[in-house]
Amino acid sequence: MNTKVVTVDKEKPDLLLMREAGEILKKGGLVAFPTETVYGLGGDGLNAGSSRKIYAAKGRPSDNPLIIHIADFESLEKIVRCVPEKAKLLAAKFWPGPLTMIFSKSSIVPYETTGGLESVAVRMPSHPVAKAIIREGGGYIAAPSANTSGRPSPTRAEHVQEDLAGKIDMIVDGGAVGIGIESTIVDFTEEVPVILRPGYINQAMIQEVIGPVRMDKGLLITDEKVQPKAPGMKYRHYAPRAQLTIVEGSSSQVVKYINAQCEKALREGKKPGVIASDETVSSYRGAVVKGIGARADEEEIARNLFAVLREFDEEDTDILFSEAFDTPKMGQAIMNRLLKAAGYHMISLDE
Ligand code: TXA
Ligand code: MG
Repeated sequence: MNTKVVTVDKEKPDLLLMREAGEILKKGGLVAFPTETVYGLGGDGLNAGSSRKIYAAKGRPSDNPLIIHIADFESLEKIVRCVPEKAKLLAAKFWPGPLTMIFSKSSIVPYETTGGLESVAVRMPSHPVAKAIIREGGGYIAAPSANTSGRPSPTRAEHVQEDLAGKIDMIVDGGAVGIGIESTIVDFTEEVPVILRPGYINQAMIQEVIGPVRMDKGLLITDEKVQPKAPGMKYRHYAPRAQLTIVEGSSSQVVKYINAQCEKALREGKKPGVIASDETVSSYRGAVVKGIGARADEEEIARNLFAVLREFDEEDTDILFSEAFDTPKMGQAIMNRLLKAAGYHMISLDE
């Protein structure tokens, strides 16, 4: 298949191109487009055939449900059974934006889209290109992150091309995304709402609006027997080709430990790599070192994370180390993605 790539102005996308993308979606085709979190791979969420095509293009297991993207709150009614009051409050505060909510699905939503579940995940993105494409495409666009299953989510159109060129109808290039990690997912199908995936909108921000919310047990415990509730969270993800280890501790201890490990790797004839903060990037020796951003600017770290993981795949490093980034607001989301990339391999250095 020939994949058409078009470039648009992020703030004022060309309406004719948005219509063209919309036509492809309405006919059951697939279009990748930017959102404020990561690039999504869109298909008509109410068309079972489109959802099947999404799974095939990504190589994604078909029990891993998709998020339906809408462009206005009124659209929600048609695809869910009921909207709890607390969900309305969260929508009023955070939609459009990087928040996904899970509800009981209505019969119009095909099981192909929900991976066989009775619930459906819904998000209203704020990105002008995403909004236009959802509207032109019929209003209900299923869109997982536009990467091959298991690879880091795409934060630029080039990443989508690497993974999906030749497999989908169109890629809409709207430049680099703003947030860089996927939306926060809150499940409203339980008594007390549960965060299934941490993101830019953190637990404290949600609790400020609706009171108590739980973190899904599968997120907190790295025991393989405790499965996360979001099916997609159980898969090894974002994984660079080289084994990654996260090293936690005081800055000087971490630098010392990683340098010793890199020396050992070099002696064994291996090529080591390090993911560092701007503050420590010049302290590492003998390895391919990539700065991910300043600790003081956690949004920068989140924005760069997936691109840095992808860059290491190009470097053919054999062994990777990363500092831990337990930053105040997005630390939970950043560490969740990093831990998955490392297959939960983390070393804590005591004082
Ligand atoms: O920021 C985002 O959410 C991006 C952009 C494109 O909007 N999309 C995204 O989709 O990250 P995806 O498919 O890569 O991740 C969706 C996650 C998966 O872990 C999936 O298992 C979970 O949401 N999920 C979807 N529907 C669910 C449901 N009904 N119940 C539980 N988990 C669900
Ligand atoms: Mg994904």
